[in-house]
Amino acid sequence: MRNNSSCNDILEAVGRTPMVRLDKVANQVAGIVYGKCEFMNPGGSVKDRIGLAMVEAAEREGVLKTGGVIVEATSGNTGVALALVAARRGYRCIFTMPDKMSREKVQLLESFGAEVVITPTDVRPDHPDHYTVKAESIADQTPGAVLANQFYNEANPKAHYETTGPEVWEQTEGRVTHFLAGAGTGGTISGVGKYLKEQNSSVKIIGVDPKGSVLKNFFDTGEMIEGRPYKVEGLGSDKIPGSLDMDIVDGWITVNDAQAFQMTRRLARDEGLFVGGSSGLLVHAAVELAKELDSNAVVVTILCDWGEHYMTKVYDDEWMRSNGFPLEDEVLGRL
Ligand SMILES: Cc1ncc(COP(=O)(O)O)c(C=O)c1O
Repeated sequence: MRNNSSCNDILEAVGRTPMVRLDKVANQVAGIVYGKCEFMNPGGSVKDRIGLAMVEAAEREGVLKTGGVIVEATSGNTGVALALVAARRGYRCIFTMPDKMSREKVQLLESFGAEVVITPTDVRPDHPDHYTVKAESIADQTPGAVLANQFYNEANPKAHYETTGPEVWEQTEGRVTHFLAGAGTGGTISGVGKYLKEQNSSVKIIGVDPKGSVLKNFFDTGEMIEGRPYKVEGLGSDKIPGSLDMDIVDGWITVNDAQAFQMTRRLARDEGLFVGGSSGLLVHAAVELAKELDSNAVVVTILCDWGEHYMTKVYDDEWMRSNGFPLEDEVLGRL
């Protein structure tokens, strides 16, 4: 847990996030549901852990040296995490991002002194201008540059194995029975899952998939189906993410956008937790699962990121209505 001691720099404030009992949204369960407040990291998301870990791994390996450059294809939380670490450690940072991304996302990264290279959205994944290919070529052509490569960087799941997992174990005093997470890269669920299973092999590791993502179906049948679009951001995929260890996962639950967004808004209004849509998705799954469990259940999930990035989406009534998502108060009969 965090304490009142001072930090030598902001990077020391990454991790050791509080875990909060969710008793209002989980009032019909016999056991306990906890949310781990990853939005309280300095960059506002769970990705701060891997931003710091990937930079420190590159420093240890000697591939990132004083004056070096960090490159990544990202528009989201990993960019913020890398940008803040780079700012503090004095590295240059270059991100590639498709031109469909909002101006705010570009400005956020630029606020930390990062450079953003905008690429066309409508190009094939192997085109030289595709944002992932572009990031690779910038990293190749820039002296002293490293590609963070969160989807295939071992430091990603390792960060969760070394920090998030032990924190969950200690904060529940070893009583955790179920851990739920989504898979963006797969780093969180694979790292935390491995650690918890090593402490107690009967802890159940549950993946949560947005409806439209292919991961649950692949786990259940071994077959790849075509993904369909969904609105929740940060997790789920139309391919198997590189950092996902499927063998560590005991099962998957699917949650649709409407359920995710209604729970997101309830977390703000009923629990005082201002988080993004993926947190609502995970908590919805955690509560539904806990309803079927007895009073010994200690269910832990992740509150992945801060709600500010989603003001014009899940927190906008008009956006909810125009996308066909009933508001939480309508569903709960509070209007
Ligand atoms: C916004 C957001 N960021 C990150 C993550 C974790 O993703 P990863 O699998 O890359 O660790 C999630 C899902 O749990 C998420 O919703």
